[in-house]
Amino acid sequence: MQNQQTEKTLNYHSRTKHSYESIRRNAHFLDWPNRPLPFKTYRDLEPIPLPPEREGTGVPGSVDLGNLRNLLYYAAGITKQRQYPGGEILFRAAACTGALYEIELYVVCADLPDLAAGVYHFHPGDMALRRLRQGDFRAVVDAATEAPSLIVSTGTYWRNAWKYQARTYRHFGWDNGTIHANLLAMADGLGLSARVMCGFVDSDVNGLLGLDVDREVALAIVATGEGCPAGSAPEMKPVQLATVPLSKHEVDYPVMREMHRSTWLETAQEVTAWREMARCFEKPEEPAAEGINLEPVPASVPIKEVIRRRGSSRRFRRDPITFQQFSTILDRSRQPILTDFPAINDIYAVVNAVDGLTPGAYFFDTRRCTLVPQKRGDFRDRATYLALGQDLAGDAAASVFFLADLEQCLASMGNRGYRAVQFEAGILGGRMYLGAYAQRLGATGLTFFDDDVTEFFSPHAANKSAVFLVAIGHPATIDSKSTPKEAS
Ligand SMILES: Cc1cc2nc3c(=O)[nH]c(=O)nc-3n(C[C@H](O)[C@H](O)[C@H](O)COP(=O)(O)O)c2cc1C
Repeated sequence: MQNQQTEKTLNYHSRTKHSYESIRRNAHFLDWPNRPLPFKTYRDLEPIPLPPEREGTGVPGSVDLGNLRNLLYYAAGITKQRQYPGGEILFRAAACTGALYEIELYVVCADLPDLAAGVYHFHPGDMALRRLRQGDFRAVVDAATEAPSLIVSTGTYWRNAWKYQARTYRHFGWDNGTIHANLLAMADGLGLSARVMCGFVDSDVNGLLGLDVDREVALAIVATGEGCPAGSAPEMKPVQLATVPLSKHEVDYPVMREMHRSTWLETAQEVTAWREMARCFEKPEEPAAEGINLEPVPASVPIKEVIRRRGSSRRFRRDPITFQQFSTILDRSRQPILTDFPAINDIYAVVNAVDGLTPGAYFFDTRRCTLVPQKRGDFRDRATYLALGQDLAGDAAASVFFLADLEQCLASMGNRGYRAVQFEAGILGGRMYLGAYAQRLGATGLTFFDDDVTEFFSPHAANKSAVFLVAIGHPATIDSKSTPKEAS
């Protein structure tokens, strides 16, 4: 049975909290000459180029190479390229802490039109797949799957820890979540079903991908398409495939490996038991409170265009957004996600400038689809402070915070629940990005002073932990050469 010692997780969460003091105490200097490469590159595997995007690529509703290409590209492909004094940054379809891109995508598929059954790695740099194994291995990932293709996401510790040290484990969830917001939206646009799975046998999936688990670990799976039951998989021999080193040397943060190890599910029975536990988890019913009904409007911009437009706002103008715009962003984020875990995060907002809403703090009651006022006032300065002193939150029209009762979540779902709660917040935040850019607004993920966020939204948020934060507003035009600035 899964390790139920949830103190390990709660300790990890506590020791990676930011506070006013911790930021000053733990100044971390970036070792630029040792900056990790943003790609995983296999030395000896031949690239299999993905087809270029063109009208008619991919048959709607079918998992073929054209649609697979679009799923991978619009989730994790390179959408922008910018030169900075320190070098070039290849920005990707989804937002990522520090533009360090520590999440990799792999495909485990049956025979598809134009692609033989196998296990493949996706390289966004050359838009190519590389085959790690030949044959249909889907049953290793999920014996019951009927999806022709499974997209597995992994996190590489060092690529993000170079900057964020032990906090990287939280970033795995957020940065993987923004990728999955895109992936799910794109699957929907292509008429493909997509089911996210957080429950799987870790050692099987890590072994299938040939991962060195001290450096890179499988995090989640998306099953795309249906109607193609997996047969038994070929024998799984160990693979060791040489890759280009990310840096001259890497720094290990054992606390993250231990944290992750405590979330592992060891057997298919444990996976089934975990899914059952997750299915039974339910957030406590919110007491009825007088709230303001949202006024969302339907989506009208094609998802590909929204993703191509996306790019985190580096500064906001202090102009108001409309109540409809804010409603649309909130409403889209709360749409159910097809997963093997339940909704865990609660959503709060600091409203600075939304037409028709009194500035103040709100709780978003997702069941009733209402905004419940918590306190009135001009909290621009407070929002800046909560976001590690970053003006983006104070200048934004609204800052949306995700909070969760971690103890309750872990009591029900064990340590695996920690993966789920961070990941879900990333997906919700990623959806907010998409909702904002669909309406020509801007958004950015932000980091925060953990306990001050809880205190700010208390008493409603008492006992909850801050998980993630996204600020939304009108992007200000800034010098395109300015480097993405990110506090710790
Ligand atoms: C989880 C998360 C947290 C982030 N935190 C910050 C932050 O604290 N400050 C900031 O300026 N940008 C932050 N960002 C934005 C990233 O810097 C940005 O996504 C990255 O530079 C890539 O650029 P792009 O989003 O424009 O493609 C965050 C993004 C994410 C996804």
